[in-house]
Amino acid sequence: MITSYAERFQQESDVAFYEAAEYGAESYATAIWQLQRPVLENLVKDFSTAQTGPVRLLDFACGTGRVLSALEPLVGAADGVDISENMVAVARGKCPKARLLVGDILAQTELLQGTYDLITCFRFVLNAEPGLRGRVLRRLRQVLRAPDGLLLVNVHGNSRSLRHPAIVWRRWREHGGNGRTMLNEMSPAAAKQLLAESGFEVVQQIGFGVLPPTLYRTPLRRMVAAVDRTFACGNFWPDRAIDILFVCRRNGKL
Ligand SMILES: C[S@@+](CC[C@H](N)C(=O)[O-])C[C@H]1O[C@@H](n2cnc3c(N)ncnc32)[C@H](O)[C@@H]1O
Repeated sequence: MITSYAERFQQESDVAFYEAAEYGAESYATAIWQLQRPVLENLVKDFSTAQTGPVRLLDFACGTGRVLSALEPLVGAADGVDISENMVAVARGKCPKARLLVGDILAQTELLQGTYDLITCFRFVLNAEPGLRGRVLRRLRQVLRAPDGLLLVNVHGNSRSLRHPAIVWRRWREHGGNGRTMLNEMSPAAAKQLLAESGFEVVQQIGFGVLPPTLYRTPLRRMVAAVDRTFACGNFWPDRAIDILFVCRRNGKL
């Protein structure tokens, strides 16, 4: 029985599932990543171009290195940190340039040294325990360059999106399940409030995917993916998108 999010990706079987199924060639997560990746790369390129020196990046909860492997070629130096040794073991194979750290950034404050120009935090906030989210974001803020370092953080289950009815149904169907299925949701307003309370101001909100993920598991998959590709990327209908990327700066309040 999983009792905390920190335990969720510790086992080799969980890592294998994440790589082969969650991010399998035909999965919904992969379809969204194909939309998100170029947008993220452009954000990092634009940020780097505006800097006078090389950019130092931290990918928090880097997992198997999906985001880090895309971004490390675009920055001067990259660190990845995660609490799961088995997730990081996979990242080591994908990220030849990055420095990879395993541990708890709250309990081991020495893990993060110096400041970072850019911090990414993908697929962590939504499923982390509510009490942990703000503590982690505030620690990330402490190591983000003042005043204009950038935090790129996503919430991959918008409660105001068309995914919501399927989540309600699955919660009812899987009621009393094994604790491994993640059926969390967060609204854009709640995400922005969490970020504000943690010392961040959202300067841009970019949505990815509007149509229900369930449709990707039907014969309509190609058509649905094409619709999401055409209409559901970037700034189109961002408060209804399923996966939302928040571009944040420090808000100066903490
Ligand atoms: C869904 S995976 C996301 C991995 C990667 N960011 C991505 O988007 O592919 C969530 C990751 O958060 C990590 N994690 C959970 N709790 C953590 C904590 N307290 N500190 C650091 N990493 C944590 C897990 O080990 C896992 O690798």
